[in-house]
Amino acid sequence: MKSFVTGAAGFIGSHLTAALLNAGHEVVGLDDLSTGRLENLTTVAGHPGFRLVEGSILDRDLVDELTTGADRVFHFAAAVGSFVIRDRTLESLRTNIHGTENVVEAAHRNSARILVASTSEIYGKNDKVGLREDDDRIVGSPLRSRWSYAEAKAIDESLLDAYVRERGLWAVIARLFNTVGPRQTGRYGMVIPRFVRQALAGEPLTVFGTGEQVRCFCHVHDVIPALTTLIETDQACGRAVNLGSSEQVSIGELARRVIRLTGSASEIKRLSYLEVLGSGYEDLMRRVPDCALAGDLVGFKATRTLDDILRAVIDEQANRGGDAVASPVPVVARTAATGS
Ligand SMILES: NC(=O)c1ccc[n+]([C@@H]2O[C@H](COP(=O)([O-])OP(=O)(O)OC[C@H]3O[C@@H](n4cnc5c(N)ncnc54)[C@H](O)[C@@H]3O)[C@@H](O)[C@H]2O)c1
Repeated sequence: MKSFVTGAAGFIGSHLTAALLNAGHEVVGLDDLSTGRLENLTTVAGHPGFRLVEGSILDRDLVDELTTGADRVFHFAAAVGSFVIRDRTLESLRTNIHGTENVVEAAHRNSARILVASTSEIYGKNDKVGLREDDDRIVGSPLRSRWSYAEAKAIDESLLDAYVRERGLWAVIARLFNTVGPRQTGRYGMVIPRFVRQALAGEPLTVFGTGEQVRCFCHVHDVIPALTTLIETDQACGRAVNLGSSEQVSIGELARRVIRLTGSASEIKRLSYLEVLGSGYEDLMRRVPDCALAGDLVGFKATRTLDDILRAVIDEQANRGGDAVASPVPVVARTAATGS
């Protein structure tokens, strides 16, 4: 089986790439290394079945070339993270709309099955406990940059739905809730690696907003097998499928737990969203998935607890001496984008 993975050098994309190689796939990865890092691919560097191409999903010809011969396409490249969306809104919209369109078109032209990473952001401010795939979206003004990520991902989902119904594309949408674990960096706004870095450095843990907002964090190792199985599951075609944990925690409690598990003497400091993310941001109070559909389709169940996740991230950062971004990037065999 040949797989094409966009965003292969990213947090989730790199774990997925390793799992596919372990399962005997040949994998071609594409990444522009904007938020991804070659270091994430250290464990698969030199694998005979793996090739990474540095380039953009906005390069239509390149995407088409790399999709040729692929049986499976996993689309994980995206502009991600609240700091990225705030600072590079236009570029992020282009990547998350036009880039996805390129990947979906290429999968269709090459008759490959495609799995596209979507997000719980789709649900916006809907704070129902146990969000189901057919629940309504409640989003704020499109003029607030915060919602542009959700808007773009929603367009991606509609595009896929239309391709499935009108063009016969085989596609499934994975709606990921907060997915965390080793290799995720806090540099672009992700809370767990940021709290852990701050705690290990003895700096204050900066909680944005009241700290009462509730999230559910799922270990990436629980999510990956569901992704690789979903794309092989005929009944999943045309579906959007939630993947996440239902273990709820407030962000304030998360900060206290990180302090306890690291044994840090750090304090907790609250900052307003306006201070940190500007006026284009508004938060949502609770986001909890219902993953019954994923359970029915592929037997999905989040098995790792929040403490398991925190220990894994703490161990990684303690061994590395901080958040991953601070580490040097080793050289990994690469193929020139085109003309090679
Ligand atoms: N981690 C989460 O909690 C979460 C939640 C919901 C959805 N997702 C989705 O999962 C996917 C992966 O997210 P992640 O958490 O691994 O983040 P990530 O930033 O680590 O991964 C995104 C990857 O895409 C690459 N990329 C960005 N723009 C590109 C472009 N134009 N061309 C080629 N590559 C490009 C980045 O360099 C990076 O390697 C994204 O689609 C994201 O929307 C993640």
